[in-house]
Amino acid sequence: MGSVIVGTGIAVPPHRVTNADLSAIMDTSDDWIRRRTGVGSRHVAEPGIGPSDLGAAALQAALADAGIEPGEVDLLVTATMTPDQFAPGIGAVVQAKAGLGPVAAFDLRQQCSGFLYGLDLADAMLRSGRARTAAVVGAEVHSGYMPFGTGFDVLRGLRAEPTEADRAAATASRAWSVLFGDGAGAAVLRAGDPATDALSPAERTGVVASRLFSDGTEFELIQVRGLGFRHQPYVDAEQLAAGLHLPEMNGAELFRRASIAMPAAVRAVLDDVGLSIADLDLVVCHQANERIVDVVRSSLGIDAEVAPTNIERYGNTTAATVAILFHELRLSGRVPSGALVCFVAFGAGSHWGALLYRQP
Ligand SMILES: CC(C)(COP(=O)(O)OP(=O)(O)OC[C@H]1O[C@@H](n2cnc3c(N)ncnc32)[C@H](O)[C@@H]1OP(=O)(O)O)[C@@H](O)C(=O)NCCC(=O)NCCS
Repeated sequence: MGSVIVGTGIAVPPHRVTNADLSAIMDTSDDWIRRRTGVGSRHVAEPGIGPSDLGAAALQAALADAGIEPGEVDLLVTATMTPDQFAPGIGAVVQAKAGLGPVAAFDLRQQCSGFLYGLDLADAMLRSGRARTAAVVGAEVHSGYMPFGTGFDVLRGLRAEPTEADRAAATASRAWSVLFGDGAGAAVLRAGDPATDALSPAERTGVVASRLFSDGTEFELIQVRGLGFRHQPYVDAEQLAAGLHLPEMNGAELFRRASIAMPAAVRAVLDDVGLSIADLDLVVCHQANERIVDVVRSSLGIDAEVAPTNIERYGNTTAATVAILFHELRLSGRVPSGALVCFVAFGAGSHWGALLYRQP
């Protein structure tokens, strides 16, 4: 009785920032960003808009898509690495903003694998009968990380050039800041038909299988070291001066790990149920870098038709990437009845995994 996705929705802030726009505030170029990452533009939220706003809007769109009233949802799972504020998490805030009842609302911190972990958790809760209608939301506002200063005024058309100091700070961040974008995606799930349990994995519908992994020995690959409680006080001027509130990323090693871990997770989950790569109609891959998806494709022997990307328009929206991509594929008719979809992601922690889903 694998859980069935009955609705999806997304929300991205209207302001689109192109690579050319970024070139006006740091030393970078459209050519470098496109060639090395595949990103063409990303959406940027206005100050005051948090992931709970985007997440609630995506969830409301998913509920409308499913034709389900907010009051029918009895489980919410949210995932973000950029919460509205340090505490509490966005789970309850999304619950309230989307007009859900006082239901259980989880906050996941699995970064780029957050939505995947959320799908797995929702499926387990639905299968066990602990919930009947579950919503999974991945939402990020990465813009708060960006050390652009007056560069944001340039992006918003309020001044012609950033200060020299802000240009230098933005340039120092370019290896990671050009990758990310803001946005949210949501899915609404319902428990599947128990009669389908008797079917073979090749015939089962809804969530067919899932494999999640974590390896904390590599948590330093991408991290934000500051603002944590091993330090007393947990935030101080010294940390800010040292830039410890900003992401630090070992890009080359992350690239290597993601390129190995994602195909391995796809093979592992297929092996678990005796299916093969040839059975897959779609691979909805985390969108961190077009070149990583290229490696996943060649490792699995699949093409861009099976493993499409939308990173060109959104950049890496972390917990929202696979949700946004799956929504767009559904809308464009790429998830017909019977299609076998593999969601796969890798992200900070490290957390990664793959989940098989067959559209009823
Ligand atoms: C970050 C990433 C795009 C860097 O690509 P890369 O091909 O490894 O590039 P490098 O870091 O080796 O940098 C090459 C050069 O480009 C420069 N560069 C980096 N960012 C740049 C930018 N935005 N614009 C122009 N030049 C840039 C570097 O300074 C370096 O210059 P140098 O050779 O003079 O020192 C790539 O490693 C990546 O995508 N890694 C995975 C990141 C990821 O998945 N993050 C999300 C977590 S799941």
